[in-house]
Amino acid sequence: MAKIGVYPGSFDPITQGHLDIIKRASKFCDKLIVAVLKNSRKSPIFTEQERVELIRRSVTGIDNLEIESFDGLLADYVRKKDAQIIIRGLRAMSDFEYEFQMALTNKKLNPEAETVFLTTDINYMYLSSSIVRDVAKNGGDISEFVPAEIKETVENKLRNI
Ligand code: COA
Repeated sequence: MAKIGVYPGSFDPITQGHLDIIKRASKFCDKLIVAVLKNSRKSPIFTEQERVELIRRSVTGIDNLEIESFDGLLADYVRKKDAQIIIRGLRAMSDFEYEFQMALTNKKLNPEAETVFLTTDINYMYLSSSIVRDVAKNGGDISEFVPAEIKETVENKLRNI
């Protein structure tokens, strides 16, 4: 049976930290689906289509990847996709409690799926999408935070809101 993984998130926008997780997870999954949550509680700055497109432009050269958006429960989406693995990145202890709660909830809702945590690359431990948004909005340099392919698009959007 093919190992299908789902890497869910808001990706508002994708960062180098997310990209690192995608690259590593794609090596142990036969197929990896990057799943963008449509209606995040966080009221994203980038539209669902923009977030999908930014990921698409960032991940060139990874063949076993699909990028889509989803709505509703992650556990249901994972079942619908016949996936067995949910991938999440862990940056610091502060992520743990939330991630632990989410993993246990998802296990209850879909016992067939396992959550696998990857520790983030040490270079990106501090990084988050809100840091990127804040720095870009205020005219700072985000070239180390987001993939080069999307830097200008992210800057243009954030400097004009
Ligand atoms: N490197 C850099 N940053 C990272 C990172 C990494 N490896 N991993 C996470 N982050 C950052 C993100 O940029 C984001 O930053 P922000 O808060 O500043 O925007 C933050 O960590 C967490 O974001 P993300 O990983 O995208 O998760 P999320 O909390 O936005 O989304 C879902 C979580 C989508 C998985 C979850 O909300 C979900 O499954 N929703 C569906 C509804 C559902 O099923 N609910 C019940 C399950 S509990």
